[in-house]
Amino acid sequence: MNEYDSDLLAQSLINDGFLPVKEPGDADLILINTCSVRAKPEQKALSLLGRMIDIKKRKPGLILGLVGCVAQQGGSGLIERFPELDLVMGPREVGRVRDCLAEIEERGKKVVAINLDESPPIPEPCRGYFTGRFTGYISIMEGCDNFCSYCIVPFVRGREVSKPPRSIIAEAELLVSEGVRDITLLGQNVNSYMWKGEGGEVWDFPMLLREVGRIKELWRLRFTTSHPKDLSKDLISCFDQIEALCPHIHLPFQAGSNSVLRRMRRGYTRERYLELISSLREVRPDIAISSDVMVGFPGETEYDFEMTLDLIKKVEFDALFSFKYSDRRGTLAEKMQPKVEEKEKSRRLATLQSIQRSITLQKNRNLEGKKVMVLVEGVSRRGSQYTGRTDTNKIVNFTCKYNPIGGLIKVKIKDGLLNSLRGECLMAE
Ligand code: 5AD
Ligand code: SF4
Repeated sequence: MNEYDSDLLAQSLINDGFLPVKEPGDADLILINTCSVRAKPEQKALSLLGRMIDIKKRKPGLILGLVGCVAQQGGSGLIERFPELDLVMGPREVGRVRDCLAEIEERGKKVVAINLDESPPIPEPCRGYFTGRFTGYISIMEGCDNFCSYCIVPFVRGREVSKPPRSIIAEAELLVSEGVRDITLLGQNVNSYMWKGEGGEVWDFPMLLREVGRIKELWRLRFTTSHPKDLSKDLISCFDQIEALCPHIHLPFQAGSNSVLRRMRRGYTRERYLELISSLREVRPDIAISSDVMVGFPGETEYDFEMTLDLIKKVEFDALFSFKYSDRRGTLAEKMQPKVEEKEKSRRLATLQSIQRSITLQKNRNLEGKKVMVLVEGVSRRGSQYTGRTDTNKIVNFTCKYNPIGGLIKVKIKDGLLNSLRGECLMAE
């Protein structure tokens, strides 16, 4: 979501005549886009801000802005705390970046833009911006109404608003015309997408998926993040019906114990979650499932934690993003007791991650000898190989005798590693 917002800012600024630079020291404008979903990204954002402030001290004409969820929450207090800041802008306001900059430049004022009622910004087309990129994001909704007890999102991204379907389809068509072949539709809670137009016109998420899936030359369609409580039968059947829809779903479960799930206000039980996984696998046996989980939610007992481990072993996720719970200001969970000690959270996280590592590794090893289709995104980090992803979202690094970048090619997997697969491309058969 933040990458999408950053692209939106960049496109708007480039349209206004700005040019990107390689080093922050060369810039006349630096905007730091931030995330406050957990304590760690917030700390990272503030430490980056510190480094940018050092640059500003040497270059007083530089305009320095903090954007995104940390900015939304800190508001004008951030300007008091960091007088070097010229701009504080929440995620809902990114579409107004040029107005804000004009105010700073023309009136010499500092600007705090944190209105949460703004309609979600729609990016301005910027020709050539996506050249060389084969994967892209489209945000189809903003905000969230769920108020899970640990989560800051509803406070910093505001209430849930869906974008008009026609503008989403136009955005997808534009990306495809620029060469993007793999699009991920984004929303905090993507499957509760609902748009009501004039004359009783109603679009739900499966309808939108079907329509975007019809775009020619769009090879792969994905969406994230889904909420288990809104995963309808209709949406599950899309995995069987929409050709472009990839066999991959990111479905955060957060905790495996019903008592923790209840206090998290997630709106489902572990049994319901497991049922959903079975239905998904029935419709698409090859579906890859990834998830988010946290340990150390207030009051999480050893038994609760065991239930989380049990769920992980039952589902066998393809990938799992795991976090230590951290208090977020203003949320219900912040006030819940007893807190789990930091040391205990670390122990639980390490145990969980070691179990998941062996599951991921086994899954990747099972692919050894198999042939997979890879959308080639570029050269690998080490530079000697090409890199891309399978439709199940696994990274594949591989050798190839010709330049396959931008193509959808067949690769034979030789090694299944923990974070990626290694293989060799099979010449067109
Ligand atoms: N503490 C730790 N992890 C959190 N997440 C959201 N809020 C918190 C919090 N307060 C995790 C959830 C979510 C992911 C984006 O971040 O697992 O799915
Ligand atoms: Fe946060 Fe829950 Fe909304 Fe996800 S569904 S953004 S965890 S409140």
